[in-house]
Parts: sequence; structure tokens; C-alpha cells
Amino acid sequence: MEEAKKTMLSGIKPSGDLTLGSYLGAIKNWAARAEEYDCYYFMADLHAITVRQNPADLRRRTLEQLAQYIACGLDPEKNTLFIQSHVHQHAELGWVLNCYAMFGELSRMTQFKDKSAKNADNINGGLFTYPCLMAADILLYQPDYVPVGDDQRQHVELCHAIARRFNGVYGDVFKLPEPYIPKVGARIMSLSDPTSKMSKSEEENGGTVLLMDTPETIARLFKRAVTDSETFVHYDPARKPGVSNLMTIYSAVTGKSYDKIEAEFAGQGYGVFKPAVGEAVIETLRPIREEASRLMKDKAYLEGVYRAGAEKASHIAEKTLRKVYKKVGFVAR
Ligand code: TYM
Repeated sequence: MEEAKKTMLSGIKPSGDLTLGSYLGAIKNWAARAEEYDCYYFMADLHAITVRQNPADLRRRTLEQLAQYIACGLDPEKNTLFIQSHVHQHAELGWVLNCYAMFGELSRMTQFKDKSAKNADNINGGLFTYPCLMAADILLYQPDYVPVGDDQRQHVELCHAIARRFNGVYGDVFKLPEPYIPKVGARIMSLSDPTSKMSKSEEENGGTVLLMDTPETIARLFKRAVTDSETFVHYDPARKPGVSNLMTIYSAVTGKSYDKIEAEFAGQGYGVFKPAVGEAVIETLRPIREEASRLMKDKAYLEGVYRAGAEKASHIAEKTLRKVYKKVGFVAR
């Protein structure tokens, strides 16, 4: 008998444009496994509003993100692609899980601490309980793996802890998920400050490459990338964070090992190395940008994809939610 396919699930907040960091840390892994696994990928719009969003931009970015998922190789015929707010079970299970996550656990989340420092005037409840909604996103679909970058590891671990606690009380309701983190590319750093993560909010500092950036912009960003006062290409994240980050990017897009990259650029300065990394990134992103731009013009197609995705996702999510409601003691409708 054919073995049941394993399940993968992940999401990205449409709170900014997709970056090279989210591509290398997450989406590249999603696309690579799309044949082998039963996959669920969504636009985490409910999560995006934990930080204030311009409504028109949020709507536009959510659709762009869908077009970019597809352009990255996620075939909607084989993957379930949907918008988080279209599947109401996420918010409902999120509420239940709020009641099984501890204040202390939530207080220890690095992302909460970082984000509340950055948004001191809007430290809202949603920002604090965000990991409960993320746990709901995951547990509704009983995935085996959650492919994310390194910065989401702590949230997936908390999801694991919440699921274990819930199962401890009610029996085996949730499958315990594992993060699935790439060996190379799990933490891409900013090109202008290689000690901080490449992120949507770093964009204006010239540190972030966007999936939809033009070749000219990408070339310029890499030429200006911060390195060090030495002149040789060598992997040493502590001493040479800028060069090491560029090597990670180059390795992730070409598949070459760090040794091979060092040999390739031996005796050549950063003046040769930096544009070569830029060129490799341009060629990786070119087909994605072109396909995403084409898809963005076909709103009817995108609508068909997210509608079908929500329908399929709701069906699975409802089964889990019903089971949870029964376990905790709610009267059936
Ligand atoms: P988000 O939207 O911040 O990031 C999306 C994904 O991209 C990865 N990532 C990176 N990887 C490597 N280097 C970087 N510089 C970099 N920047 C971002 C992130 O690790 C993530 O995998 N809470 C999530 C969204 C979410 C989710 C979920 C994920 C909501 N529900 C359920 C998995 C399962 C988030 O804020 O990711």
C-alpha cells in the first residue's frame, strides 16, 4: 500500500514585500519539497495586523505574495495556497490555544521583545499572543514539518509545548510538529549591517533585497554591501560577518560549498566577489520576478487559486476544530 504523504505547512506575513531572506530561509524549501509532501502555504494577514498596516497596501501585498508563491514554484494544483483570514478556524483555534499558553512562556519570546521595543507606542495584545495564533495555524493541519527560517524556531517550539500540554489533558488531539530549517540560509543578514537580520523593515537602509527588485537595484545593493577591511573571501561569521553572509547567499543560490567558493575567489578581491554574488542572485530571482509580474495581471486566476485553497484548507481545519471543541466541552451546534 502507498504510504500516506507527509504534510508541510508554513506562512508569511504580508506586512512587507517578500525578501531574499524569506525566500532563502523558507520559500525555497517549500518549493523543493512540493512534490514529496502534502503542502499548505498561506498569507498570514491576521498576523500582519499586530503591527499597524495601511489597508490598501495590505490587500495589495497579500495578492502579490500569492503571485510570488506561485512564481517561486508552488503549483496551486499540488499545494493548498490560501489567505489566512479566509479560514475562520485559525482565529477560533487561536482563541482556545490562548487559554493553554502561559504568560511566562509568551513573555520569553524573542520576537515579542524585539517588536515591542521597535513599536513602543503599539504594544498590543495581539503582538503578545501572536504565537498562540501561529500554533493554531500549524495544529489545525497536523503537519509533520514546518519549514521556516531560524527566527521562527522559538515559535514552533512553543507550538510544540502548547500541543503537548493540550494532549496531556485531553489525549492525543494534536500531532507534534517539528521545525524544518535549512542548513544554509536559515538566517540571512542585512547587506548594510551584517549583524542584524535581513528584514522587511530594513529595506530603506539598503540592507534588504526584495524578490521583485530589478536587476539594477540588486546589482547596486550587492556592490554596496558592507564587508571588512581585509581583502580575501573566507567564511568566518564572527570575524567577517559581511563576507560570510555574502558567501551564505552565494552558497544558497548556487549550491556551492564554502570551500569551493573560497577556491573560486582565491586571489581576487571583494571588487570581483560582491558583483558575482549580485549576478547569481539576479539570475535566481529573474524568472520569479517575471512570472509574478505576469500573474499579478491575472486577478481572476489568483482569485480562483485562493478561493479553492480556502475551501480545501477549511475542510481540514474544521475537522480539527470540531475535535478540539468537543474535547474542551463545548456543546455541539
Ligand atoms: P515572517 O513573515 O517574518 O517571515 C517569513 C519566513 O521567512 C523567514 N525569514 C528569514 N529566513 C532567513 N533569513 C532571514 N533574514 C529571514 N527573514 C524571514 C522566517 O523565518 C519565516 O519562515 N510568524 C511567521 C509567519 C507565520 C507562520 C505561521 C510560519 C504565521 N503563522 C505558521 C509558520 C507556521 C512570521 O512572522 O514569518
